Amino acid sequence: MQKDIRVRKINRGTVIDHISAGQALNVLKILGITKEHPKITLTVAINVPSKRIGVKDIVKVEGLELRGEEIDKISLIAPEATINIVRDYKVIEKKKVEIPEKIEGMVKCANPNCITNFEIVKTKFIVEKKHPVSIMCLHCERVMMEKDIVRQF
Ligand code: CTP
Ligand code: ZN
Repeated sequence: MQKDIRVRKINRGTVIDHISAGQALNVLKILGITKEHPKITLTVAINVPSKRIGVKDIVKVEGLELRGEEIDKISLIAPEATINIVRDYKVIEKKKVEIPEKIEGMVKCANPNCITNFEIVKTKFIVEKKHPVSIMCLHCERVMMEKDIVRQF
């Protein structure tokens, strides 16, 4: 057995690699995968040594290929993450997450008085800063940092 393989390879699905250490559970929260999804098997590794980023977390989602919006959400809390789409045990697609310029209908505004929280108005944020992330609501100008973003999921 190869020394560096900590958890076994998956047959098909998505491997979210290079997650900032400590963020794996927040990635799960964002994905919202629960026992209502019995066909999806999750494997989580926390504080795995990494050459590139020191220590990292890894989430393997077996049975689900993540799509655009889910990947964009992950970018907000794990800006270094790599998304690997796996089919038939092979990585068929690899991409780095990227924080989008505009964030629409993806995050709830943290300001309880914001119009988006009591009328059916789509949330819209602009990205003020990427590292560390801060986004601003275009309706009420509330600025949200990573912790505030995680809390909304
Ligand atoms: N992986 C997996 N199951 C597979 C294929 C890959 O769980 N069938 C995992 C690997 O263990 C690794 C990640 O997916 O954590 C990326 O795989 P790969 O591209 O083979 O590894 P690296 O070349 O090391 O990736 P990178 O260059 O992005 O660090
Ligand atoms: Zn707002």
